Amino acid sequence: MTSVDARPEAPTLAFPAGFRWGTATAAYQIEGAATEDGRTPSIWDTFSRTPGRVRNGDTGDIAADHYHRMDEDIALLAELGVSDYRFSIAWPRVQPTGRGPAVQKGLDFYRRLTDALRAAGIRPVATLYHWDLPQELEDAGGWPHRDTAARFAEYAHLTADALGDRVATWTTLNEPWCAAFLGYGSGVHAPGRTEPAAALRAAHHFNLAHGLAVRALRAALPAAAEISLTLNLHAVRPASGDPDDLDAARRIDALGNRIFLDPVFHGRLPDDLVADTAALTDWSFVHDGDLATAHAPIDSLGINYYAPTVVAAGTSPTPSPWPGTEDRVRFLPAPGPRTAMDWPVDAEGLYELLTRLRDDLPGVPLVITENGAAYDDYADPSGDVHDPERVAYLHAHLAAVHRALADGADVRGYFLWSLLDNFEWAYGYGKRFGIVHVDFATQRRTPKDSARWYARVIARGGLTG
Ligand code: NOJ
Repeated sequence: MTSVDARPEAPTLAFPAGFRWGTATAAYQIEGAATEDGRTPSIWDTFSRTPGRVRNGDTGDIAADHYHRMDEDIALLAELGVSDYRFSIAWPRVQPTGRGPAVQKGLDFYRRLTDALRAAGIRPVATLYHWDLPQELEDAGGWPHRDTAARFAEYAHLTADALGDRVATWTTLNEPWCAAFLGYGSGVHAPGRTEPAAALRAAHHFNLAHGLAVRALRAALPAAAEISLTLNLHAVRPASGDPDDLDAARRIDALGNRIFLDPVFHGRLPDDLVADTAALTDWSFVHDGDLATAHAPIDSLGINYYAPTVVAAGTSPTPSPWPGTEDRVRFLPAPGPRTAMDWPVDAEGLYELLTRLRDDLPGVPLVITENGAAYDDYADPSGDVHDPERVAYLHAHLAAVHRALADGADVRGYFLWSLLDNFEWAYGYGKRFGIVHVDFATQRRTPKDSARWYARVIARGGLTG
């Protein structure tokens, strides 16, 4: 702090009063304690223990040991000054086989977590599914199997019954696109299946599961509860105005965005999606009434954004996470600087998405439920972690959110991914997204420069400069 009276400097880009400032994490990526208190394997336990699936053979067995270090992590959140904290509930902790009654010890962990958050003045924002499907349900067919949607609604109901008195904001699913198309299409995520038609079935069953869960949540929660869905919407850009490039962009928009947006917000499937995928499926797994179920009213839409998607006419390798586009679409690297994920830094894509949603979904409040960047951070000899690229990334993206707000997008909050360095799925621990550095050998937490920067942004309610 530089000012004499320690009052934060007034921001030049001020966010609205009541704007929700948070950080986000997910159970499998931070908790560890994989076999404790009745937890049984999820598809990510199985997948990560399968040689060759995750870099360096990393698993979530210990992760950031958050299960045992929750209090320390909440103290970090309190230092940041966040108003909200987004975490996920591990289905295999609460209902290990995906069927039957809840396990008290599993629920107790989330009771302790949410009580401690509330005691620190931080609003808990719970996600019910951040990719850790109980292995037993995968063995029964997984998300391509219709019954999984019903199982999810049951799990949502019993979790909301137990925690509804202390969690006001609930998200059904995190990024169903990744879960369906990376999990069952390209197979780079759990359960590692490469079945394009099954990936489309899975996507439909995610829409159905979402709608069924919204009903279950409404029945179990107080009327004021906020219910949402988080999508990794794609900011799709055609490489040129050439009609074939425009067609490639349309296909990716259908498979990446409208496959979820149309059922959830309009109760219909995009006609072009059904036509584009006709060689793979006749969509007869969509039963009468399913789309009406998916179209359950929700209170906000969560958006996870990292980078745009640039496409042209062409071909792409198989197995692909984009079923049916392999001989039509080529993915191009966007120009400019890149993060350690090799993802381009492009805040304009976030602005594009937010203003598109302003136009396409009037009246739907938007929340950025994830945004952030991985860089190869390390602690210097004095123990500090300097991460100026992350600060620049976050600054640019928050400035884009501010511009979208000024242009009429109804954005209610921003959750930075992520509080802690964690298990970055198929990349293991090699990719660090945290604003708090974790030394995985000692579990020592060290706030990076970006953490101090974010605390200042929150304290002043916006950006300077
Ligand atoms: C989105 C996912 O929800 C999260 O789990 C992941 O770590 C980040 N993207 C970064 O890849």
